[in-house]
Amino acid sequence: MKSLRTIILAAGKGTRFKSETPKVLHELWGRPVIDYVIDVAEAVGSLRIDVVVGHKAEAVAEAVQGRASVVVQKEQLGTAHAVRCCSDKFRAYKGDVLVMCGDTPLLDKKIVRSLVMRHRKSGAACTFLTARISNSHGYGRIIRGAGGQVVAIREEKDANADEKKLDEINVGVYCFASELLFRSVGDIRQNARKREFYLTDIIELLLSLGKKVDTVTTDDWTANLGINTRADLALAGAVSREKILKYLMADGVTVVDPATTYVEPGVRIGSDTIIFPCTYIHQGVRIGKNCSVGPFARLRPGTSLADGATVGNFIEVSRSSLGPGAVAKHFSFLGDAVVGAQANIGCGTVTANYDGKNKNKTNIGRKAFIGCDTVLVAPVKIGNGAVTGAGSVVTKGRDVPDGMLAVGLPARVIKKVNK
Ligand code: UD1
Ligand code: CA
Repeated sequence: MKSLRTIILAAGKGTRFKSETPKVLHELWGRPVIDYVIDVAEAVGSLRIDVVVGHKAEAVAEAVQGRASVVVQKEQLGTAHAVRCCSDKFRAYKGDVLVMCGDTPLLDKKIVRSLVMRHRKSGAACTFLTARISNSHGYGRIIRGAGGQVVAIREEKDANADEKKLDEINVGVYCFASELLFRSVGDIRQNARKREFYLTDIIELLLSLGKKVDTVTTDDWTANLGINTRADLALAGAVSREKILKYLMADGVTVVDPATTYVEPGVRIGSDTIIFPCTYIHQGVRIGKNCSVGPFARLRPGTSLADGATVGNFIEVSRSSLGPGAVAKHFSFLGDAVVGAQANIGCGTVTANYDGKNKNKTNIGRKAFIGCDTVLVAPVKIGNGAVTGAGSVVTKGRDVPDGMLAVGLPARVIKKVNK
């Protein structure tokens, strides 16, 4: 099998974003947009990934560090010029090269994988991805001949009225035979209107040389959503949110109000768990079966809820775990806490986990009962079956032993209440 390398184009300024931050570094679900494109490149088995950087090159280079190398495009003279900047690195390479844009975070790895497979099978010089969409404004349109064969990609600015009506567009994902790509990309002429070198012109060029060009078409318009404006970024968030929630519901999770529920990618939720409205669940959170979350809950990264746990309204949980059947129903902050099975976290409980320098741990034993408005100043331990009185402040290191009741400020252990 031929080897595969990937080039991701990310040197553009993203003028339409009107931002100091390069558009590929704007975040979707807390991760830079370009991260998702790198995910796809890795998933399809790229031997190596090169990112073309230009505008705010250092910032983009830092963001992709460890996952990709960078090639600097000093002046942003267009997508073909960006690819040409990589030619030195590909001189001795004879495999295939995937070219993608850094601004398409919803790109689906399955589609890209099928593109690469088709390219390998057909032996085309270039196989690229097209999509049928209802609003094709702004994208390159696919021009086809009478027999349906692809003839060219026409950019918005150069398209005539009839071409503008075409609903098949260029996604911006191409698989090339590397040698042919670098042999031809230098011959692309500058576009007269935009004064840029368009990679899309390579289609006509390869065809004129008698080379084979093939396409894969997807009906999933979301796959190619290019993030060119902040409205696009919001749309990408909305589209992926809907997909995630549908997937969870299909998997047995009740989402009472999808319109106000936010679940980031990479969250696992067990069946028969109910998510109430106005809830935000961050990446990596694990929730067991038969749990109840929200309304108005925020579960931040590093959080896990064991089966049957409840996190009710106005509660933030961060880097904490709740054991089976543990309950925190109202107005609490739990940070860096381990809460034992069936413990009850009273209304208004706060773990004071941050002392201004470090984050410290709170350990709450199984079946412990934390009274309303308790402040637990970490690091601190509350024993199994221990109880704190309403309004008590358990200070740093003043652990409450198993089964004991502590009250006051600072909380004093006064008597045994549980075995
Ligand atoms: C491009 C395609 C268009 C396609 C669309 C899909 C061209 C000429 N047009 O248009 O057919 O429908 O993507 O989203 O390729 N970049 C560089 N260096 C440059 C210019 C751009 O690295 O000199 C990078 C940008 O950072 C971006 C990507 O290339 O990640 C695409 O550039 P962009 O300006 O967004 O192209 P579109 O106008 O969207
Ligand atoms: Ca774009």
